[in-house]
Amino acid sequence: MNRATTHPFASREVEKRGAKRVSTSLDTNGLKFDFPGLLNASGEPWHYLDSAATAQKPQAVIDAVTQALGRDYATVHRGVYARSAEMTLAYEAARRRVAGFIGGAEEEVVFTRGATEAINLVAATWGAANLGPGDRILLSLLEHHSNIVPWQLIAERTGAAIDVCPLTADGRIDLDAAEAMLTERYKLVAFAHVSNVLGSVLDARRAAEIAHRVGAKLLLDGCQAVPRLKVDVAALDCDFYAFSAHKLYGPTGIGALWARAEILDAMPPYQGGGAMIDRVTFARTTYAPAPQRFEAGTPAIVEAIGFGAAVDYVSAIGLDAIERHENALVAQLREALRGRNDVALFGPDDAAGIVSFALDGIHPHDLGTILDEGNVAIRAGHHCAQPLMEHLGVPATARASFGLYSDESDVAALLAGIERTRTIFG
Ligand SMILES: Cc1ncc(COP(=O)(O)O)c(C=O)c1O
Repeated sequence: MNRATTHPFASREVEKRGAKRVSTSLDTNGLKFDFPGLLNASGEPWHYLDSAATAQKPQAVIDAVTQALGRDYATVHRGVYARSAEMTLAYEAARRRVAGFIGGAEEEVVFTRGATEAINLVAATWGAANLGPGDRILLSLLEHHSNIVPWQLIAERTGAAIDVCPLTADGRIDLDAAEAMLTERYKLVAFAHVSNVLGSVLDARRAAEIAHRVGAKLLLDGCQAVPRLKVDVAALDCDFYAFSAHKLYGPTGIGALWARAEILDAMPPYQGGGAMIDRVTFARTTYAPAPQRFEAGTPAIVEAIGFGAAVDYVSAIGLDAIERHENALVAQLREALRGRNDVALFGPDDAAGIVSFALDGIHPHDLGTILDEGNVAIRAGHHCAQPLMEHLGVPATARASFGLYSDESDVAALLAGIERTRTIFG
């Protein structure tokens, strides 16, 4: 079968709409075939520009999950029968692949429900053990609520205080300001590696240097970075790295916390239950070593297998190629939006895969609704970053975010939808 002539993507809206092809090494026309979710209910190409919220899944991940839930299914770490032993090997192999993907060791990776739970885990365990009255935590103005609220909860419990690092005029975390703020009273710096609203990329290496200079640990919220940039936790020299599988083309319900081995080893347990213990008596319970100590209960076995498959899929394409490709699309979209006199554009020009903007006199929700009628999906809202919205002076932004499957046809469809919205609203 000749996929190129029978599949809806073969219609190549790029040429139809006259959009300029961006020149990168990714064959997105081919890659789109891997993602059944990129077709709408009528079987037409869907211009999905909300990958920062959650990415579509390649068939390889769907197949891995189906097989794990079907003919391979069994529990892990407990069964004495062969299927369970095999499933345990597959589950631990997924951990190894996830660890390798970010340059970590397998015993340093804890499977969590997602980035949110990973950050809550650090706050509730490391935070409870290491924070006290007078201690300070440094966050930034652009953080997702997942990297704000867990710290507020633990600050209330421990008496620690939170400070907020400002942004540069183009929407980066201002590391000069952070450096000037940091003193030895700071125990933790927690920053987004890539902003989910502005796409700005943190100089994580420098953030680690300035945090460590005062003895603070650095947590990086890597949710938006891992699908877009090659991450190497050893080279970044961070202490904690949190991310979710579903933004990395994997399943929902699973993510990872990487923590430096000596820090993880010293952290008290998070939740109590099965699988996280060494020995239980009513007098005293001892705990399993990390990472099992942090994985109470039957884990998300199938999701972990899917996470491993997602890592394999992305690794085979290569993050260098994905980064180059998304950068080219960001440049194309920003240039087109800058050419209009009715658009406010947020974030820096070298944003990674994410473009936030506002159309004069048109609420982002109205734009999103009209775009949806035209088969284009964007996100409109505060993006779980209300302090950043307040700083930008807007209640919401429209956000287009790319994935490895995005291409110029998606940019062209978005621009055509913006034009249509302007015509409707006048
Ligand atoms: C930067 C950032 N941090 C944290 C999160 C929370 O991720 P999850 O909801 O998968 O736990 C998100 C998701 O939108 C995000 O973009």
